Amino acid sequence: MGGSKNLKALWGGRFERSPGRFLTEFGASLPVDRRMWEEDIRGSVAHARMLAAQGIITPEDAEEIVSGLFGIREEIKAGEFEWDIADEDVHMAIERVLTERIGPAGARLHTGRSRNDQVATDTRLYVKKRARDIAYRISGVREELLAAAEEHAHCVVPGYTHLQRAQPVLLSHHLLAYGWMLSRDFTRMRHAFEAADACPLGAAALAGTTYPIDRDMVAGQLGFSAVSENSMDAVSDRDFLVDLVYACAMCQTHLSRLAEELILWSSEEFGFVVMDDAYSTGSSIMPQKKNPDFAELVRGKTGSVIGSLVALLVTLKGLPLAYNKDMQEDKRVAFDAIDTLADCLQVVQGMLGSLSFNTARMREAADSGFMAATDLADYLVGKGMPFREAHEVVGKMVLELEKSGRSLHDLSAEGFAGFSCEFDPDVSEITDVDRQVGRRGSAGGTGHDPVRKQIAQMRTSIAGDEAWLEATQDPE
Ligand code: ARG
Repeated sequence: MGGSKNLKALWGGRFERSPGRFLTEFGASLPVDRRMWEEDIRGSVAHARMLAAQGIITPEDAEEIVSGLFGIREEIKAGEFEWDIADEDVHMAIERVLTERIGPAGARLHTGRSRNDQVATDTRLYVKKRARDIAYRISGVREELLAAAEEHAHCVVPGYTHLQRAQPVLLSHHLLAYGWMLSRDFTRMRHAFEAADACPLGAAALAGTTYPIDRDMVAGQLGFSAVSENSMDAVSDRDFLVDLVYACAMCQTHLSRLAEELILWSSEEFGFVVMDDAYSTGSSIMPQKKNPDFAELVRGKTGSVIGSLVALLVTLKGLPLAYNKDMQEDKRVAFDAIDTLADCLQVVQGMLGSLSFNTARMREAADSGFMAATDLADYLVGKGMPFREAHEVVGKMVLELEKSGRSLHDLSAEGFAGFSCEFDPDVSEITDVDRQVGRRGSAGGTGHDPVRKQIAQMRTSIAGDEAWLEATQDPE
């Protein structure tokens, strides 16, 4: 950030004293919003071209403005632009430098426009860009989950409720559950994109403008599919940003749950997965340690992303119409949420891609204990016993086996018959772990057939999402 050569602001006409260094910096959003420089320039170019097309400025002035802005764009890209915090925000920084360079034409750019509709336009363009980018990354994680699900199509793993072993499931089924969470996250990102897809430019400060502007022309140039209907709403609406941050918080929450499972699964107690060395760190004191730090950080950063959503909603809740300076705080928290999630998606994609699954250990865990208990009760139901009675019989069985330190596999056909005369010798099939899984053929269940179908559905769903990404690609 360069020094302050410019304490007199572009709005300085009616002022005799300026706020001074501390308040200038306190009031500035430049460090946060300068990342929207590309959107700001696009917006100004579209506005200038429209002003000329409507005869509000001359074509020569518009030409000068546009080429001046393109020059600034190249400079910023090259990292040569001198940002000055005294400019307050990205909009003023670019306009000031433009005017310093091209003179009166630059000073005409802001005709029929206010920073209020300008910042709303820039933010919407930026949200559209980032919502797409996050959606793309979500798709990448889903691909990784799908690949692992396909690779381990026959691996069984204990399914848990209350973190107690419940019923065996296919590892694919477990992984695909996250794939569906992320599918909904993709849809939420797409919704945020669509919520941002209306152009506020032309609302001016709050009431519209006296100039004969053409809002549709501006919207068309900027790739918006509509113009906002109400100028007061246009400059004070941040719903699209809340939608985006909510989508971020939800997706981050899903990543956090996945991270938690990977942390558990990589513990010695579970031993279901081994994280790649690149996704682990050591301890400075305990030489044997291999810690899942990056998964823990994904889980840990979730607090701040959820915090961003709360901060944004609370910032907005008391605001009267129309623009209020409070709204400048929106970008700091929203950008933080977007950046954090983007990084976490990258981490999780790499982590999944390099993860090894200890399928033997998973099978061993899925095949031990009493996870066939529900199936044994269902077996008795099949012989005509009411379910509650069957539940009781199997419950007693578990109690007795547990007391004597045995499992279902230790029970002979006679042993079974001792608990109920309905148990025939074919009962051993019931406790076979693969058959247990295989029997759950109901739609959306963990049986091999529904999971195969689910894999195909996931592939189609990802392809649909990727077609949307393709269709919304910026032509530029
Ligand atoms: N930096 C401001 C923001 O981020 C831009 C709009 C300021 N408008 C105003 N009238 N002060 O919200």
